[in-house]
Amino acid sequence: MIQKPRGTQDLFLNNSKEWNAVEEKFRKVLNLFNYGEIITPMFESKELFVRGVGDSSDIVSKEMYEFTDRKGREYVLRPEGTAPTVRALIENKLYIQENLPYKTFYIGPIFRYERPQAGRYRQFNQLGVETFGIDSISHDVELISLGQSFLRELKINKDVIVEMNYLISGNERKEYELELKKYLNSFNDLCSDCEIRIKKNVLRVLDCKIDGNKFTEAPKMTLFASQENKERLNKTLDQIKQLGFEAKINFNLVRGLDYYTGLVFEFKNIKTDQAIIAGGSYNSLVEELGGPDLPASGFAIGIERIMMLLSDQEIKVADEDELDLFIIPLSDDAQFLTNKLLLEARTANLKVDTNWNIKNLKAGFKSAERMKSKNIVIIGENSINSDIYAIKDQNSGETKEMKFKDIVKYLKGEK
Ligand code: HAM
Repeated sequence: MIQKPRGTQDLFLNNSKEWNAVEEKFRKVLNLFNYGEIITPMFESKELFVRGVGDSSDIVSKEMYEFTDRKGREYVLRPEGTAPTVRALIENKLYIQENLPYKTFYIGPIFRYERPQAGRYRQFNQLGVETFGIDSISHDVELISLGQSFLRELKINKDVIVEMNYLISGNERKEYELELKKYLNSFNDLCSDCEIRIKKNVLRVLDCKIDGNKFTEAPKMTLFASQENKERLNKTLDQIKQLGFEAKINFNLVRGLDYYTGLVFEFKNIKTDQAIIAGGSYNSLVEELGGPDLPASGFAIGIERIMMLLSDQEIKVADEDELDLFIIPLSDDAQFLTNKLLLEARTANLKVDTNWNIKNLKAGFKSAERMKSKNIVIIGENSINSDIYAIKDQNSGETKEMKFKDIVKYLKGEK
């Protein structure tokens, strides 16, 4: 038997229904926050991520699905959505003044060659939001409250905490990196990834999946931050709390992508210790990729991780699947009339169905029950000859007789 690739999923029946319902809720919230959608290709030039995300990141150094096309061009399946959005912003000149601030979102698959485990896939889906042309505490607070609004809309109100930190840059960062290296030299049992990162991108050591929790005494980055940046982080936290959301500062929070320049944050599932939502500001990326000097920030939600949380907390998002009417046809003529009624009812926005394989009443009632139909009608020789159809209300058990032409009106509550 041919099986799906490792780290991927098939979604069907209730799972795909829940998935779509979650996506619908996300879209509703995004509309309220006035974000417009951007749709970019699923594969991009490898160079975009090497330059955009950074070749010292795990994502670029060992997790990309890479291929060359027939002309030898190097492409990758997108391993994240921020660099492609910035590429599209620059290529389509979306940064012109009249578009700013530009607030956009994307929903779609992302590919990373990671070691699969619960909540970690090789093809997963992100809902990402990105904003360009704004850099302020108020905007940071609004961004985090957007993340909170998604959770509220899904009625997730426990097991998630928000952690924030402020990444420093320039000379402050250089000083801090020296101190951090001194501290890390006191360990002699670090994993090989840590050893490489100490040389290439020392901040990422704090984020190590193997050794990360050893570094509780690591020097705190914010101590090296300017007074202004420290105040900014505290003010952001304070305002988030005043809006009624819980959050805390985690001085060891760094991110796995190199483009962040200021605030970074994660919404973590405290039961699995996995991030559900993660992001921050990346004020140099647009310029680094050839665009204007434009501040930017955003985050992405891992939709599979949201689905896991919903399932753990037994939260159902999709509406109950119910039919307005199930039709049981008992002859060839009845099958034609059934098609006529199905079309008329569906045109009137009613959810109706039949099962063309049923040969008798017993099978018909069984199908109707399985499909949770509110009403049932049997179409047989008698009803066709007399033009009297009995509609059975499955809730009350009552039956109402009417002409064929009145069935749809009755179901719509018009008669
Ligand atoms: P990221 O932290 O790499 O950030 O991914 C964002 C979210 O995607 C994670 O918090 C997690 O929920 C989900 N995720 C990541 N890897 C996997 C995986 N292997 N399986 C399932 N879910 C996963 C970014 O991608 C940034 N582009 C976020 C961003 C947008 N920053 C600014 N704007």
